[in-house]
Amino acid sequence: MSPVAMEVTKGRADTHELLQAQAHIWNHLLQTICNMSLKCAVELGIPDIINNHGRPMTHSQLVDALPVPPTRAGDVRRLMRLLVHSGFFAVQKNEDGEGYVLTSSSKLLLSGSKMSQLPFLLMLLNSDFTSPWHFLGKWFQGNDASVMETATGMAVWEFMAKNPEAAHMFNKAMASDSSILMEVLVNECGGVFQGVGSLVDVGGGTGLSATTISRKRFPHIKCTVLDLPHVVADAPLKTTDLDFVGGDMFESIPKADALFLKNILHDWSDEHCVTILKRCKEAIPSKEKGGKVILVDMVVDTTQADRKLAESQLCFDVMMMVHEGGKERDEQEWSKIFNDAGFSEYKITPVLGLRSLIELYP
Ligand SMILES: C[S@@+](CC[C@H](N)C(=O)[O-])C[C@H]1O[C@@H](n2cnc3c(N)ncnc32)[C@H](O)[C@@H]1O
Repeated sequence: MSPVAMEVTKGRADTHELLQAQAHIWNHLLQTICNMSLKCAVELGIPDIINNHGRPMTHSQLVDALPVPPTRAGDVRRLMRLLVHSGFFAVQKNEDGEGYVLTSSSKLLLSGSKMSQLPFLLMLLNSDFTSPWHFLGKWFQGNDASVMETATGMAVWEFMAKNPEAAHMFNKAMASDSSILMEVLVNECGGVFQGVGSLVDVGGGTGLSATTISRKRFPHIKCTVLDLPHVVADAPLKTTDLDFVGGDMFESIPKADALFLKNILHDWSDEHCVTILKRCKEAIPSKEKGGKVILVDMVVDTTQADRKLAESQLCFDVMMMVHEGGKERDEQEWSKIFNDAGFSEYKITPVLGLRSLIELYP
């Protein structure tokens, strides 16, 4: 290649790299637009409207059914074009032409469905939970345990106790996660509850996890839910087959054969986790007598082949820093905590998507 041709090629490569770098930055920054557009679509009721239509819904049928003036038809098309591109809706042909249909992701955003993730979306994108992000830089320069504390002057659980609406929204969001995860857990890993006579769901929120365990597959297990008093007072699933105890897991945990902690330890620092696990150890019998702690939490693996899963784990980790002052951990970090809390053996089963089942033995 002549020196001039080399110059031109290099110039093009530099230009390409420059524009790619700008596109990378923009793509990153524009992710807020994707999630706010999705929030808008569910607030307008679009997934429910398309679902109720029962067949592919043309653009004009959708606009007619929406609580928007006809002059917004073009804007609805722009919103839908983005959400089709993001995989939340798809376009299919029918006798009327082309129509919108739901995808497996938007089916999980229907308001009345048993496994709806709508409460999780509404909580995460609510300003109570988005505004602390603006304080992340300030938090790094101080000593607060969580960004939430820097933003509101309160740790997240105190904030919830003082803001019943936010607490209710948060508890519903947690229950929506349990509605999927617990089905998978009892169906795919039900063996973990075999031989257990009594179980305490520590930080069990509304009681949906414990209900799924006891009603679905293990009615003989005596299940108790321990959570903060204001959460127990708001727990909508108070039934005769479930005991609710308002208390503090840092103080004491009711005795049982097995303890279940789903999405609990990731809310806390390593030191707090060790304290919680020590309380757990005091509450269960020896391994020989069937004592165990069952955790559902993330085991971060940045080397996994699925880069999207790895990215979600890393995002969750930063979210824990912001909302709760906790963290997502890799196996080495977990192992140290288990050891410091006096547990002799653990087993990780990574079959729950982003999360793993971890069994801990005294
Ligand atoms: C992230 S949520 C998880 C809820 C539930 N385990 C689930 O996965 O759906 C954490 C739970 O821990 C509870 N919690 C926080 N501090 C607690 C404490 N000191 N004692 C008992 N529960 C506590 C919260 O009220 C909340 O319900």
